[in-house]
Amino acid sequence: MKLWFAVLASGQRQCETEFGHTTPREWIGAMVQAREHWSSKMGFILAAAGSAVGLGNIWRFPYVTGENGGGAFLLIYLAIVFTIGLSLLVAELLIGRSTQRDAARAFKESAGGAWPLVGYMGILTAFLILSFYIVIAGWTVAYTVKSLTGTILASGTEEVGAVFTGFISDPIEPVIYTAIFLALTVFVVLGGVASGIERAARYLIPILFIILLVLAARSVTLDGAGEGLSFFLKPDFSKVGWDTFLAALGQAFFSLSLGMGAMITYGSYMRRDDAIVGSAASVATLDALVAVLAGFVVLPAVFAFGAEPSAGPGLTFITLPSIFAQMPFGAFFSALFFFLLAIAALTSAVALFEVVVSYFSAGDPARRKPVTLWVSLASFVLAIPTSLSMGVWSGYTIGGKPLLDALDFFTNNITMPLGGLLIAIFAGWVLRRQVVQELGASGTLVGAWQFVIRFVAPVAIAVILIAGLI
Ligand code: PHE
Repeated sequence: MKLWFAVLASGQRQCETEFGHTTPREWIGAMVQAREHWSSKMGFILAAAGSAVGLGNIWRFPYVTGENGGGAFLLIYLAIVFTIGLSLLVAELLIGRSTQRDAARAFKESAGGAWPLVGYMGILTAFLILSFYIVIAGWTVAYTVKSLTGTILASGTEEVGAVFTGFISDPIEPVIYTAIFLALTVFVVLGGVASGIERAARYLIPILFIILLVLAARSVTLDGAGEGLSFFLKPDFSKVGWDTFLAALGQAFFSLSLGMGAMITYGSYMRRDDAIVGSAASVATLDALVAVLAGFVVLPAVFAFGAEPSAGPGLTFITLPSIFAQMPFGAFFSALFFFLLAIAALTSAVALFEVVVSYFSAGDPARRKPVTLWVSLASFVLAIPTSLSMGVWSGYTIGGKPLLDALDFFTNNITMPLGGLLIAIFAGWVLRRQVVQELGASGTLVGAWQFVIRFVAPVAIAVILIAGLI
């Protein structure tokens, strides 16, 4: 008791000297006020869409669609995004908005017990994803530059493949590009919530849409694009198996930035009276739209030039440059495409950063700068061996995988689905009734959301998690 008074008294003294507040009530009020917020509903939607739209949509979605047979995968993916994905997005935003706290403190505040562990796992996941995300994003910056100098454009896939492997296995060059990309990310994060993250998204998301539309228009009008279009749009259910559902669910999760506290963090910068459901629906729609547009960019071109849609992760870095090399103004379109990828990756890396920064700065804007610098240093230290694992250090493996693949596997297949599962259970079964009522949607909508978040999502995610591990 004595200690409690001492703490309050010292807090009060500090408030009096620093802010001129005299009572603890004013002091607490000032702390809540001090939390940064989005400047408007549109600002939030753009920032959250910036987090969602990333390498996952433009690099990963087209090749995963190519590997999983096209149209039918697209349908299943969209169905999952607008049921389980959207419900989990609403749940994360609700947890963040109602507590006004970072990913770990949000759980402490609303339930306590062992629940903050879910938040800590999310913060660790964000840090680990960040450490390989900036490496791949660095490649996109390098490929933007190299498109213009023409060094990556050659007509044979084999030749382009050799250039790509040569580049990523170099011990120095990719690390430099990682550092450049990291510096850009730090620059945005240092600006803070409204004038850094939100402002970057305001400029970058519209640019991204314009570039995507230009590229899609070019791709669908190529001679022979029709075959790619029907592959992408005509569902062939004979090829659908259990693994198609698993791939679609994993893709939806990664793409919507779910299961690791990013949307809890972004939700915590919403004001208490900001609406959630409509904004979440807009974010999911924008995210799906970009993925579909990326499909229109990549798949028709792949078919028009007789490449393999199931080429896997190399589809972007190997197949596309060889296609661009055969196109009129190929260097221009190539640079435009990789620039687009870099922009998309930037607003996502910012979100990953913010999960960690928000936790360590504990809502105190004054600590944003030192914390951001420390986090960037730490992620760079982990990014160096991650980059080297594609070349000189490829011999050191974890569970048979080089570090980059191991980090990707661990986060995508274990911690993100596990986080999503626990967040669904938390939102569906633990959150108090009044918090759920804060959703402010109609009774039927809230009922539908609760049904998905209580039953459908946990069961479906548990199935992927288990099947994914087997
Ligand atoms: N959603 C991002 C993408 O599609 C990746 C991401 C995951 C970003 C988790 C933030 C948090 O690339």
